[in-house]
Amino acid sequence: MAKIGYVFDAYGTLFDVHAAMRKLADDIGPDHTAISETWRVKQLEYSWVRSLMGSYKEFWKLTGEALEYALKRHGRDDEKLHAKLMELYWTLDAFDDVVPTLERLRDDGYRIAILSNGSPDMLQAATEHSGIAALVDDIFSVDAVKVFKTSPDVYRMVTDAWDSKAKKIGFVSSNRWDIAATSKFEFKTVWLNRSGAVEEYQNYPPGKVISSLGEL
Ligand code: LAC
Repeated sequence: MAKIGYVFDAYGTLFDVHAAMRKLADDIGPDHTAISETWRVKQLEYSWVRSLMGSYKEFWKLTGEALEYALKRHGRDDEKLHAKLMELYWTLDAFDDVVPTLERLRDDGYRIAILSNGSPDMLQAATEHSGIAALVDDIFSVDAVKVFKTSPDVYRMVTDAWDSKAKKIGFVSSNRWDIAATSKFEFKTVWLNRSGAVEEYQNYPPGKVISSLGEL
């Protein structure tokens, strides 16, 4: 059965989460990669811990708390640097393959959505800045259900809104844990493995693995 549309994860899949830190690489020095990794890992950890605790707090605030931790952890506790990085994260760049792929899928008649942990205002700013706002039909933020991925309540927002069975919908994410959860949810999953990451979550394999969006 043909798919009715594609749903994309946002951060790491469409938007380059390390772009903010990379823009300040000269100021920060060689540690910028490690700081950016810590920032991302903590941002995700906070989302999972808060979901399990039943204590939702919007993703933008968790992103700020994660950056505060990462800067302290790497000996760079600096309020000005924090503010500058948060400003850059608000308008992250999209990967080069995003615009051509979304244009092609739209031309082929697919409905396009973003489903993200991001708060609605963050997602709006990032889609506008990266020039993809007009290419996306729906933006689903977890803020509507007040729990983060990988709760099925998050993925159900799409099947409810599109009034469709999960198995007719393509779901694309660079996050292997997001793919595990959506494979269990029965979306047609595509793991975008840009970095050659090691396979995991063997019980919930992706339907397909690609290394760039052009292969979609
Ligand atoms: C998102 C995070 C997980 O966009 O990257 O949902």
